[in-house]
Amino acid sequence: MDIAVVGTGYVGLVVGACLAETGNHVVGADIDESKIQGLREGQIPIYEPGLDLLISRNVAEKRLRFTTDIGAAVLESEVIFIAVGTPPDEDGSADLQHVLDVARVIGQSMTEGAVVITKSTVPVGTAQRVRDEIEKQTDRTFHVCSNPEFLKEGAAVDDFMRPDRVVCGIEDDQVRPVLEELYEPFVRTGNPLIFMDIASAELTKYAANAMLATRISFMNQIAELCEATGADVTVVRQGVGSDPRIGQSFLFAGAGYGGSCFPKDVRALIKTADDLAVDLSILKNVHEMNERQKGLLTAKVMARFGTDLSGRQFTIWGLSFKPETDDVREAPALTVIEELLEAGASVVAHDPQAMETARSFQLGDRIAFGEDAYSACEGSDALIVATEWLQYRRPDWDIVRDALRAPIVFDGRNLFKPSRMRAMGFAYYSIGREQVE
Ligand SMILES: NC(=O)c1ccc[n+]([C@@H]2O[C@H](COP(=O)([O-])OP(=O)(O)OC[C@H]3O[C@@H](n4cnc5c(N)ncnc54)[C@H](O)[C@@H]3O)[C@@H](O)[C@H]2O)c1
Repeated sequence: MDIAVVGTGYVGLVVGACLAETGNHVVGADIDESKIQGLREGQIPIYEPGLDLLISRNVAEKRLRFTTDIGAAVLESEVIFIAVGTPPDEDGSADLQHVLDVARVIGQSMTEGAVVITKSTVPVGTAQRVRDEIEKQTDRTFHVCSNPEFLKEGAAVDDFMRPDRVVCGIEDDQVRPVLEELYEPFVRTGNPLIFMDIASAELTKYAANAMLATRISFMNQIAELCEATGADVTVVRQGVGSDPRIGQSFLFAGAGYGGSCFPKDVRALIKTADDLAVDLSILKNVHEMNERQKGLLTAKVMARFGTDLSGRQFTIWGLSFKPETDDVREAPALTVIEELLEAGASVVAHDPQAMETARSFQLGDRIAFGEDAYSACEGSDALIVATEWLQYRRPDWDIVRDALRAPIVFDGRNLFKPSRMRAMGFAYYSIGREQVE
């Protein structure tokens, strides 16, 4: 098939590369000229395991190319994916400006019978707005579908290649064979292609993210109770999660959820419900709990060092919102850093992949970056672990102790055993467990 994927960000690049890998001819289109220029020169703008090889192979085999001419990409394609960003507006709702801009260009350029698929996470009713926008531009017939994406950054290629399920919201059965053909290579193991109406598909994506965010905030609240009662949240999690009705995933207490999806999708779903006078108070609590949780590490630092941190230096390990990605959008580490800077401290950070994105996205030159994890600890009052990258899980504690001014560790991801840290002479503060003073 000839396919256009409009938006070459974390989602669009993975979708485009995976569809090209299965034999389609894909053009990735984006308004960001420097990104497209870089892609044409073989530079992959994001860190996502396996993506660089996939892109370079499919570009070399001429099934994948990139353009800034969105109209031309639409004109030559039977299927057009909209995969642009839907950032939060000031009131928490999803900003649909980019989606509707693309819909306008699609209306101006598409051929008869085109299939327009929204991949971006969009509120219920957006497919109808996309249809309306296209119809303002053309009398041609076309199909609109909602096909929300469930990939996880850090495992995105694998998730797209082997999805748990593919959700397809369609207006009528006419377009069903196109989606079946598109996804047939990815659902051969029997995982379902689930067809439903468009509103349900749009809502499914938000409900899934809201459920996962709820599990995290719930467990963070249980962690608070663990600290107050002397229980240990890591063993509570094991005990709770071994019930097959509950399962182990997304039950890890920590420094709060972040990333480009959960925070904004939870807020957008709350806004949708508010607009329709539906009470989604559970989710309001989930969101508030997470905002509080993102400040927990700083609160622990201040409980130890006082609220005025002038003259103090702290090391942060991990900037990305989770391991195996360079995405720092709404990363808890950035909240901690802003709070430390606000209190007068200086910060030295290290991350295996996200130092450049953190610098250009928000931090600029306000903090220093360590060449490696250990040198980042030199002369700091304490180490703060914010992201659970594999390389931070078994550090050489002798080197860390020698580098720090005092052996003090704040762990926002519960990576180490309190008893072991005590035995090695560290003060160790983690989440929902014994605090080693
Ligand atoms: N990142 C994830 O893990 C993930 C997972 C599932 C769903 N989603 C959803 O997918 C969508 C895209 O997310 P992302 O993380 O890839 O975003 P992103 O910010 O990484 O990429 C968006 C891209 O769209 C481009 N763009 C913006 N306006 C455009 C326009 N008018 N024409 C052409 N290109 C335009 C931008 O230049 C950018 O390259 C969002 O709705 C997001 O919620 C993201």
